Amino acid sequence: MFYRTDTNAHGLSHDPFKAIVAPRPIGWIGTKGRDGSYNLSPYSFFNIVSDRPKLVMFSSSGRKHSLRNAEETGVFTASLASRNLAQQMNASSAPVDYGVSEFDLAGLTARLGEIVDAPYVAEAFTVLECQVTEVIQPKGLDGEDAESIMVLGQVVGIHISEQIIRNGRIDMELARPMARMGYRDYTDGGSDVFEITRPPGA
Ligand SMILES: Cc1cc2nc3c(=O)[nH]c(=O)nc-3n(C[C@H](O)[C@H](O)[C@H](O)COP(=O)(O)O)c2cc1C
Repeated sequence: MFYRTDTNAHGLSHDPFKAIVAPRPIGWIGTKGRDGSYNLSPYSFFNIVSDRPKLVMFSSSGRKHSLRNAEETGVFTASLASRNLAQQMNASSAPVDYGVSEFDLAGLTARLGEIVDAPYVAEAFTVLECQVTEVIQPKGLDGEDAESIMVLGQVVGIHISEQIIRNGRIDMELARPMARMGYRDYTDGGSDVFEITRPPGA
């Protein structure tokens, strides 16, 4: 099948777009408000955009609390939700009032960053501490603002739990980082790990 996205007439019962670009890593974004309140929410519009310097992004569909706090304070953390924290990750996505801590809501421990003044999930196996480098309002072909706003941050510190390191590498079968598929489906990175050697010279 083929369909144009200007009409979006895919003929399926559910829009397949987000099931095509999948699985997507989930950045569990931790921020602090100017008022000192803690905030935590999962973002699957999240990824690495550069290795040197180390840059990551998350994208907010509309102006949500994580975006507001990241803009106000210039920092955020991205904890990676592993399979054992799946329910807590989901609970932290509840649409609660500004100032309500999703750490408390989900029964998680908030710990302040070593470098940045933003909280992260103490139970997470890996955490990136980030300083905001840019907040971008993407536009469509018609020049209109997209519904999403992208926050880019430079990773200035990285936490890794010794629990997931085996033979000097992060062991995916131990880490089992959650990823979002389409619809309400998830997978985790520990389910089917296989290695491929790159072509010579690559
Ligand atoms: C797995 C998962 C991934 C999500 N990804 C995004 C996302 O990329 N962008 C977004 O705006 N909302 C996303 N959401 C919804 C937000 O987590 C939700 O709207 C949350 O309440 C936002 O919180 P905040 O206002 O405290 O930032 C996601 C929810 C889940 C469960």
